[in-house]
Amino acid sequence: MPLQHPRIHTFDDYQDAWRRSAENPEQFWAGVAEPFTWRRKWTSVLKADLVGGHNEWFSGAKLNITENCLDRHLTTRGNKLALIWEPNDPKTRQIRYTYRELHQQVCMFANVLLNNGVEKGDRVCLYMPMIPQLAIAVLACARIGAVHSVVFAGFSATAIADRVNDAQASVVLTSDGLNRGPKQIPVKRVVDEALESCPSVRRVIVVEHLGWPVQMLEGRDVWYHDEARDVSKTCPAEEMDAEDMLFILYTSGSTGKPKGVVHTTAGYMVWADYTFRNVFQVRENDIYWCTADVGWVTGHTYLLYGPLLSGASTLMFEGIPTYPDAGRFWEVIDKHGVNVFYTAPTAIRSLMTTPLDNVLSYSLDSLRILGSVGEPINEEAWHWYHTHVGKGRCPVIDTWWQTETGGIMISALAGVSPIKPAHAGQPLPGVQPVLLDQEGRELEGNDVEGYLAIKAPWPGMIRTTYGDHERARQTYFGVYPGYYFTGDGARRDHDGLYRIIGRVDDVINVSGHRFGTAEIENALNENDYVVESAVVGYPHDVKGQGIYAFVICNKPVAEGEKARVEASIIETIVAQIGKIAKPDKIQIVSGLPKTRSGKIMRRILRKVAEGETSNLGDTTTLLDPGVVDEIIRGRK
Ligand code: WT7
Repeated sequence: MPLQHPRIHTFDDYQDAWRRSAENPEQFWAGVAEPFTWRRKWTSVLKADLVGGHNEWFSGAKLNITENCLDRHLTTRGNKLALIWEPNDPKTRQIRYTYRELHQQVCMFANVLLNNGVEKGDRVCLYMPMIPQLAIAVLACARIGAVHSVVFAGFSATAIADRVNDAQASVVLTSDGLNRGPKQIPVKRVVDEALESCPSVRRVIVVEHLGWPVQMLEGRDVWYHDEARDVSKTCPAEEMDAEDMLFILYTSGSTGKPKGVVHTTAGYMVWADYTFRNVFQVRENDIYWCTADVGWVTGHTYLLYGPLLSGASTLMFEGIPTYPDAGRFWEVIDKHGVNVFYTAPTAIRSLMTTPLDNVLSYSLDSLRILGSVGEPINEEAWHWYHTHVGKGRCPVIDTWWQTETGGIMISALAGVSPIKPAHAGQPLPGVQPVLLDQEGRELEGNDVEGYLAIKAPWPGMIRTTYGDHERARQTYFGVYPGYYFTGDGARRDHDGLYRIIGRVDDVINVSGHRFGTAEIENALNENDYVVESAVVGYPHDVKGQGIYAFVICNKPVAEGEKARVEASIIETIVAQIGKIAKPDKIQIVSGLPKTRSGKIMRRILRKVAEGETSNLGDTTTLLDPGVVDEIIRGRK
């Protein structure tokens, strides 16, 4: 009988685990790690370096994460559902894989990768729809020790090319096309365009999904179904070192270029499993559904790795919340008997604006636990979710974490910890949050607000930024030496519960997706009309934050020409980044508020975007205070 993973059941258990994890982290995590399948045990649990950012967990251990996700469940859960796939169109066929079947599919895909020359350590870029083959392909990479880099299938060709080139990926996995609600998108065509500037790619493997005709480049492109025809249904798992790279996931920072966040094998595995089982309190026969796309970290950790490591049944949904109508989420919950549901505030807020009947016409009896992730959930959305979806009987947990943290850091444990609307709550065992002031001094006690930092390493933490460790060191470990800096501001209330306020850097969070203002500005500046631009976020009812772009054009733009110029600017953004980064508002200006040293005063632009023009603060240091009046007059 395999060893049981310890599970927190009561608030006392939680407090005890948190205390033990802080007093003796090595002993604590050794205990948590023990029940996994290891080819060889570690020689040291933790080698910590919060100054240089060289942190290692379970060094010396050998393992493969897919043996832990799949093989070890075969004796006890072989016939249990591992993956349930709900298609975009509710009238088409769902797909279900047991652990045994998923294991077989992963082995076959892994063999196809091997036959196509993929070796341990190679980077494989996945640009795919939310179909079972995406989950299978991710695990197939991990099975053979290839590093997966999933790029959300809404990014543009230019964005793919940047990511492929940064990772020097040799293979790209894609599909003919994808469904997104009523639309179909020719995914392979986007990849073809991207690869015109990606010399490192020598093979493209295409999964057939829509049955659309695509161009296949002789010598480079192959169909998955052709390659899989005669492959073996077994594939030995590659033996990986604890600190071997598992995946790269690109995310935006405050500079122009997205960075490749690197996670490694053993620490991420232990963290994904531990946080999943304790936060969601999933039971053996539960159906668990996380609505995130695998293209984001939530999809990695809480759609795939966490649930599969824990032996849960995880649901993957191809579609969108509003297709064929705004009751789709609730229809899927009733159809599959979903017990634990994890989604984003932006989805809740967009569904809240539709008639209440969309949710009231479903029973939602199966639901036991509700989760939220990606951005602060406002009280109104929290209460709507709690009342109309959870019928007042399901705890709503607000889980705070980041691509860089690998898994949930601050959250109530469902049904275990006290819950306060719009508060993430308390740190998980192993997490030591602090609030810092401007000078980096820790704020003691409760009822304080400051920069959120983490004081001790945890197993799922970022290891480096791909190809550029110095960037990781500076961004995360160099701001307040000795701490991991999150980039978020937070408040610790009088009960010691954390409430996340939002980013304190030049990152904006649009519908739970991160963009650097500099990244959008770089894209804007590619437009022929644009000579300079400044982007800020502003509060948006549905998206959390909207994108407000101030642009200076190369010549005066007449009133009648504005619509055309704006359309051209939007087209550029869509081509450079993707539709998800489309500015909500574009204001053409003749100048930007700058200091004498040439620095744009974003504070002023943010106030204008927020509509708070009566109190702009000190503008006397501006080079030309006159531009501010013009900007206020032209406000959108
Ligand atoms: C940023 C990380 C976590 C996976 C999805 C997003 C914000 C995330 C919460 C929350 C308030 C949140 C933070 C964080 N954020 N969860 N529960 N409450 N803010 O991952 O793209 O890496 O973004 O999202 O600002 O820094 P990400």
